[in-house]
Amino acid sequence: MTHSDVLIIGAGAAGLYAAIFAGRRGRRVLVLDHADAAGKKILISGGGRCNFTNLEAEPRRYLSANPHFAISALKRHTPHDFLALVERHGIPWHEKKLGQLFCDRSAADIVTMLLAEAADAGVTIRLGCRVEAVSRPDGNGGDSSRGFAVETGHGRFTADSLVLATGGLSIPKMGATDFAHRVARQFGLPLVAPRPGLVPFTFAPDDLARTQDLSGIALDGAVTCNGARFREALLLTHRGLSGPSILQVSSYWREGDPVLIDLSPDRDLLAHLKELKRGRPRAELKTVLAELLPRRFAERLLEAELPALGVTGRPMAQMPDRELAALAGFLHAWTVRPAGTEGYRTAEVTVGGIDTAALSSRTLEAKAVPGLYAIGEAVDVTGWLGGYNFQWAWSSGHACGMAA
Ligand code: FDA
Repeated sequence: MTHSDVLIIGAGAAGLYAAIFAGRRGRRVLVLDHADAAGKKILISGGGRCNFTNLEAEPRRYLSANPHFAISALKRHTPHDFLALVERHGIPWHEKKLGQLFCDRSAADIVTMLLAEAADAGVTIRLGCRVEAVSRPDGNGGDSSRGFAVETGHGRFTADSLVLATGGLSIPKMGATDFAHRVARQFGLPLVAPRPGLVPFTFAPDDLARTQDLSGIALDGAVTCNGARFREALLLTHRGLSGPSILQVSSYWREGDPVLIDLSPDRDLLAHLKELKRGRPRAELKTVLAELLPRRFAERLLEAELPALGVTGRPMAQMPDRELAALAGFLHAWTVRPAGTEGYRTAEVTVGGIDTAALSSRTLEAKAVPGLYAIGEAVDVTGWLGGYNFQWAWSSGHACGMAA
């Protein structure tokens, strides 16, 4: 088949899902991917168990220059719709926490399901197929006629509709490319500058010298950056900071921004410290701190951070209230200034991408280029950690598959 109704570039989550719904409508669908297997990111996702959706997938849990854009697609194909498909295929699943649904067995169950559905819908998938160029048969965009031509290592393919589903830039060693962004630019669609998201922070050498040997220590906290606040664990690493709450705020962080960490988010520390001063006046500060925080971390604070606030290790009775207030203030708002992030090498997603202003929120079709669609992570819609990004891939894939 060299001519199809719908040609989808990218056999990942969004591309396969769009193919299924377009195929079910009787459209002749061809999916091309340069990888040697479909759905490779699905296979490594969620630690191999694929966090395939989140029951709380509301638009406010997505970042986008237009926070309303995702509403339409997410409403028309919900986490429950995807779950119904998973259940129809008899795939065992469980809710881990916070609405996050995972496979009991393996992420391969999801890929097997998508490929079975695609085959059932009559979809053709060609793997190991490098796409070299995209054009309008009669020129490079600009006119309003339908139809696209795609030059590949397997020859030339033409189609009435072309779907960009090649994802974002994260994990280049798995074959991630900026292909969708390049084609979008070729057709005059604007981009929101892409940057790595859901990614660990790195520290500058001075800061790292104070924390590097604490690598592996997990802290409980609430992390805030640019108005976004996440209450989950964080982790000291040999490069800086990671853990779920750090990955979450990293999507909101811009170079130079401070990140505030409340190390006692559930307790008014000043009240607690005053209480201890009354009730256990002989308790040493280091003992009290080790009850609130991991011991080695508490010791490091006491030797490296707290003296600058005038707080030194003494029995509680000898600590004036102003020192208790300084200590409580520090622990409620430990401020770190990341030097950067680990970048696309380890980022779970790309924030930014094809500007939603150029797309229909109902169909994901480019407003100015009839027949051209963009879905999934290639688009400027980025979910929180926890199954939200796959739900966007399913919902945007469905919206496109029902229209293309
Ligand atoms: P996706 O990246 O899945 O697919 C793009 C496809 O296009 C790939 O098959 C690629 O080979 C192909 N392609 C790229 N360039 C091409 C070119 N030039 N020519 C031809 N083909 C090309 N999300 C979540 O909700 N739950 C989770 O558990 C996880 N876990 C997770 C772990 C890790 C390690 C990562 C890196 C990411 C996650 N994610 C996640 C994020 C999730 O994987 C991601 O958001 C979706 O896979 C995006 O789906 P897409 O289909 O848009 O892109």
